Amino acid sequence: MADENQNGKNGEKVTVLEKVRAGIKEDLQSLKSDIPAKAKEQIEGLKDPTKTQVYTSIFRHKHDDTPRNRALGVLSNVFLHLHPAKINRDAVRYSYTWGMGGITFYLFIVLTFTGVLLMFYYHPSKVQAFRDVLYLEHDVPFGKILRNMHRWAAHLMVIAVWLHMFRVFLTGSYKKPREFNWNIGVLLLVFTLLLSFTGYLLPDDQLGFWAVTVGTNMARATPLLGHEGPFGKMLGMTPYNDVRFGLLGGSIVDANALLRAYIWHCIGIPIVASVLMIVHFWRVRKDGGISGPAPVMLEAEADKPRRGPKAAGE
Ligand code: HEM
Repeated sequence: MADENQNGKNGEKVTVLEKVRAGIKEDLQSLKSDIPAKAKEQIEGLKDPTKTQVYTSIFRHKHDDTPRNRALGVLSNVFLHLHPAKINRDAVRYSYTWGMGGITFYLFIVLTFTGVLLMFYYHPSKVQAFRDVLYLEHDVPFGKILRNMHRWAAHLMVIAVWLHMFRVFLTGSYKKPREFNWNIGVLLLVFTLLLSFTGYLLPDDQLGFWAVTVGTNMARATPLLGHEGPFGKMLGMTPYNDVRFGLLGGSIVDANALLRAYIWHCIGIPIVASVLMIVHFWRVRKDGGISGPAPVMLEAEADKPRRGPKAAGE
């Protein structure tokens, strides 16, 4: 029995060894034939790097300026593919869009970036807040420009979003099929204004304090939810449970109001606004891209029959 096992084992050893030998032989054989081919490929690669496997695995299409390559260039790039491969040239002219939607978005990015940097120096407490602002203005390297970039970008974003809305209105771009996106836009306007409003209190200076005092006093008169608003009393609203109380975290503008403004300003509203912006941009694509000006007809073309899908029904 023992002998058989050993023999058996020896037998196996022999076959395994043979297999290994055969494998090595095969590898050597293929190396002999592959090496010259690989060397040739590498030399070719040195002559023209765009033909190497590394290059073509990153850049997957040629760079010749043809419509097909341009489209492929856009579609195969993670950043560029956010834009459509083809667009209506007239729709993206600045004279039509004023570039205001894009500028609003750009300002939002600037605000997020400078806002995060400001958070490194700011504490939302009654003792610290105003001191932090003074520290930023006078001692922190580049603190003054950082704070002013944030402040000016906020003012500009409010102006840009109004101008964007105005241009959308003037060009009638709120009409079918863009009604839904107009409504998303209205929410974006409200959140842009709320971002500015909540940020205003954060320096805890006289300007911010009184602005928020006046603003939140207006909330007393909110229909249904304010204790001085229509139907508020009927619904049991008092100065201690109405919407103003909820905004301030109390009945006066104090430490709780500062903390609440801070959390809404830095976390709550930016997250909601970002999600809405994603939906807004996605809708622009889904609604057939930016609306574009009405097609221009030359005087010479005026008597000729119109082409296109509408022509038959007219
Ligand atoms: C944070 C605020 C907003 C951002 C970042 C934003 C961004 C944009 C961008 C980049 C476009 C592409 C066309 C262009 O730039 O003009 C656009 C289109 C549009 N936006 Fe806004 N927008 C905002 C607020 C608003 C508001 C307040 C409204 C209206 C109440 C609005 C309604 C629309 C509509 C209807 C379109 C499609 C326009 C077309 O197809 O011609 N947006 N938005």
